[in-house]
Amino acid sequence: MPLWQGRFSKATDKATNDFNSSIATDSRMFRQDIAGSVAHAAMLAKQGIVTPEDGKAIVAELGKICADIESGALIIDPNAEDIHSFVEYELTRRLGDAGKRLHTGRSRNDQVATDLRLYLRTPCAEITELLCGLRQTLENKAAQYPNAIMPGYTHLQRAQPITLGQHLGAYVAMLMRDIDRISDAARRMNVSPLGSGALAGTTYPIDRKNTAAALGFDDVAFNTLDGVADRDYCVELAAALSLIMVHLSRLSEEMILWCSWEFKFAELDDAFSTGSSIMPQKKNPDIPELVRGKSGRVFGDLMGLLTMLKGLPLAYNKDMQEDKDAIFDAFDTVKLCLTTYIPMVKTMRFLPENMRAAAAGGFINATDCADFLVGKGLPFRDAYKAVGEIVALCIRSGHTLETLPLDEYQAACPLFDDGVFEAIRLENCVARRGMKI
Ligand code: ARG
Repeated sequence: MPLWQGRFSKATDKATNDFNSSIATDSRMFRQDIAGSVAHAAMLAKQGIVTPEDGKAIVAELGKICADIESGALIIDPNAEDIHSFVEYELTRRLGDAGKRLHTGRSRNDQVATDLRLYLRTPCAEITELLCGLRQTLENKAAQYPNAIMPGYTHLQRAQPITLGQHLGAYVAMLMRDIDRISDAARRMNVSPLGSGALAGTTYPIDRKNTAAALGFDDVAFNTLDGVADRDYCVELAAALSLIMVHLSRLSEEMILWCSWEFKFAELDDAFSTGSSIMPQKKNPDIPELVRGKSGRVFGDLMGLLTMLKGLPLAYNKDMQEDKDAIFDAFDTVKLCLTTYIPMVKTMRFLPENMRAAAAGGFINATDCADFLVGKGLPFRDAYKAVGEIVALCIRSGHTLETLPLDEYQAACPLFDDGVFEAIRLENCVARRGMKI
């Protein structure tokens, strides 16, 4: 039975009812819907808008409804229009007139806006905890290989030697910003729309500060139209989640490269890899690939939210019901990715000998070789050119900077002496840049 009776002379068309219904998505907010109703009913009684007896009965029965849903004694009706209708219907079924008084001075528009803000606090906290977990895992992994030198890349060409700790530390920096972004968005989300009514506030002497405080909000939304129409927090959170996926996707791409036989810098534990149905030798990095792939879903959720909102006149429009599918999917996807990722990183093995061998092979210390000449008084641009010629010579003769004889160095530039070999040792290159080794 819909909430909106009286005006209509016909039952809703079945397909229309299904199309209109959001219960499949919003039933997961039943606790928040009930908490919002408890705060509202208690406030109505305190303000003398409903009698103390009705207020008490509503609050007590809402508690029972919540417990019954949690225990499975009460099944949420999949044919209900939404969770708000279901809870009110059930309350009225149990209490009669007192139940019908709950919606005094309130609309589903401020109700759903309140529920969603309350609901999203939990996934924000969960994602933050997972991000902290991944950060710790990366730091521990780096600490496991304290002296690991690897090639640092630009354009995926060997550039300068770095440590594994330096490389993984870049992801730690990204995750720290991610944690900060979620908490920043969660702070802005924490104002109460309850009391905005359908859009224009209410004629009843409600106490918005009271319900806001009871529900743990920092403040009340100061404009009632904005109270019901604002979904910025969904967009902000979906954007923060999208960036998390960008970071996970970039890390995934590197994991996939590192696990290839061409790189062989790392190996995933068997428990976190998969095989091929036809090629017996295969060990595939499916998890990082799926994480990389799922980034598209989360970006899609963000785009969906932005597009859904951009043309809406104030205040509430039914389009906004689409918000929950998008933001729930974004949170669920990121949670799933992080949950799978952490143990995968924990158990993966790096192969520092291979990383060092790759770093030793590609003239990665050429900048340091030029810096050696700068130390002898040569301007950097001249030193750069001299070393460039030496690199070209090495390529022609099959040498590396380490194996080229000193007289050939000196033929290119007389300022070279045998100190150059110490200067281009990878450990020294890394240490001179302030990296612990
Ligand atoms: N299910 C709706 C939503 O998620 C609740 C608000 C409905 N309000 C209305 N006036 N139809 O947005």
